[in-house]
Amino acid sequence: MALYALGDLHLSFQVKKPMDRFGSVWKHHERKIWKYVNETVGEEDTLVLTGDHSWGRKLDECREDLAFIEELPGKKILLRGNHDMFWDAKKTERLNQEYSGRLFFLQNNFGVYQDYALVGTKGFTFEGPFYLDRWGNIMGWDEEREEQAKKLVQREMERLRESFEQAKEAGYRKFILFLHYPPTNILEQTSPFTEIAEEYGVRSVVYSHCHGEQRFGDSIQGTFHGISYFLVSGDYLNFHPLKLLP
Ligand SMILES: [Fe+2]
Ligand SMILES: [Fe+2]
Repeated sequence: MALYALGDLHLSFQVKKPMDRFGSVWKHHERKIWKYVNETVGEEDTLVLTGDHSWGRKLDECREDLAFIEELPGKKILLRGNHDMFWDAKKTERLNQEYSGRLFFLQNNFGVYQDYALVGTKGFTFEGPFYLDRWGNIMGWDEEREEQAKKLVQREMERLRESFEQAKEAGYRKFILFLHYPPTNILEQTSPFTEIAEEYGVRSVVYSHCHGEQRFGDSIQGTFHGISYFLVSGDYLNFHPLKLLP
């Protein structure tokens, strides 16, 4: 038994969005996902997919992408990404009913792996724009957008706290936290997400969303304040799922 994570599958079996214009790593990436996940993940394992599953805008445009995910081995837990337009956070319950026993949608609830509660939400990160000088140093940023970001972070924090509390009430004391967005922006060392991770004593924080070499270093990786931070964007891992727990 093992717990794995992988993010940003960006599937488009129905809406046909070619991904190789984002770089050669994306060429036939769905074939890589199929091959590497099948080589790594067993039926007894759990695989958390950290958002941006499908380019479809409505559920009916995502059916084939979700069917592909369903066919992958193991127990699949899905987190919402910023591109998952098919998934209204308030209607998560409905998705969980419809896909009951096949896929689990993680939002305002929690998953379980051994004695760990798996909690998660999309998160939010202020990503600029940042204004640079000619040497590439950050001289300023869009303050209006930063204000909007703070409101979105607040809402995500409420959702997350609800999930942690549900898990605690059910008796769980060990946690792994999944986010779609990185836990901090490129300027920050800490954020409400790193703080809540420390407050609940999570073992690991797992996130994705960052694409391309220039973005892979946007947030924390490695150990910070005793917590392990992992980036699991598909292109960063060349679509090999990352093992989080044996
Ligand atoms: Fe993405
Ligand atoms: Fe994303």
